[in-house]
Amino acid sequence: MSTRANIPQHVAIIMDGNGRWAKLRGKERSEGHVAGMEALRRTIQNAAEAGVKYLTVYAFSTENWGRPKQEVEALMALICRGVELEADNLREAGVRVKVMGRRENFSAEVAEAIRSIEEQTAAGEQLTLILALDYSSRSEICDAVRDIARRVQQGELAVEQIDEHLISESLLSAGVPDPDLVIRTSGEYRLSNFLLWQASYAELYFTDVLWPDFDGEELQRALEAYAARERRYGLVK
Ligand code: FPP
Repeated sequence: MSTRANIPQHVAIIMDGNGRWAKLRGKERSEGHVAGMEALRRTIQNAAEAGVKYLTVYAFSTENWGRPKQEVEALMALICRGVELEADNLREAGVRVKVMGRRENFSAEVAEAIRSIEEQTAAGEQLTLILALDYSSRSEICDAVRDIARRVQQGELAVEQIDEHLISESLLSAGVPDPDLVIRTSGEYRLSNFLLWQASYAELYFTDVLWPDFDGEELQRALEAYAARERRYGLVK
């Protein structure tokens, strides 16, 4: 990674195209996810080397529970195996792992794997990796609204105190800066219920590359495109 100028502090990625990658090769969809896991491993390392401080990846959406049972099971097994195999590497590389999403639907084994990787990597200072698992932006916003309404009802909070900061701090991403750059692979041009509040001013980058083929060069291309953008936040230059 050569460019260090104007590096986004927070990159978020919709890792799409595992299924099509597998189909093109006559493989099972789950094999696409295994290759997707490899791409994630490379990207964590490449992002850290480039100077990115937060990397959020959409690994399993709330809607993904509706996929065939066999595929959901393969993804859950991949989470557990990934955590087991990568915990030491991530800790040694200074990567702090956090999971963002509803936790109550996971099996005890997956819940324990998540708890364990968060605990083992809690001291990491190089890069914060946020795994969006059982995540949906709309349900995150609903939960935050419910929480704020409850606080108002209990007299803890006045209606006038509800502002953008309070809403941000009531989301699952509380304490994490908003993403500067959102990347989506596989030639789809959608946000698919990912970070809808947080990505309000993010730069969007789309590539036709399928996620398992995403590598250091692809990340570099996205970072260069970002560096060339002018962010105006609704103002004039
Ligand atoms: C989208 O491709 C990808 C997913 C739903 C899962 C993402 C998972 C990984 C990259 C690997 C594992 C990472 C963790 C932490 C479990 P798709 O299946 O929608 O592809 P398609 O659109 O081509 O069918």
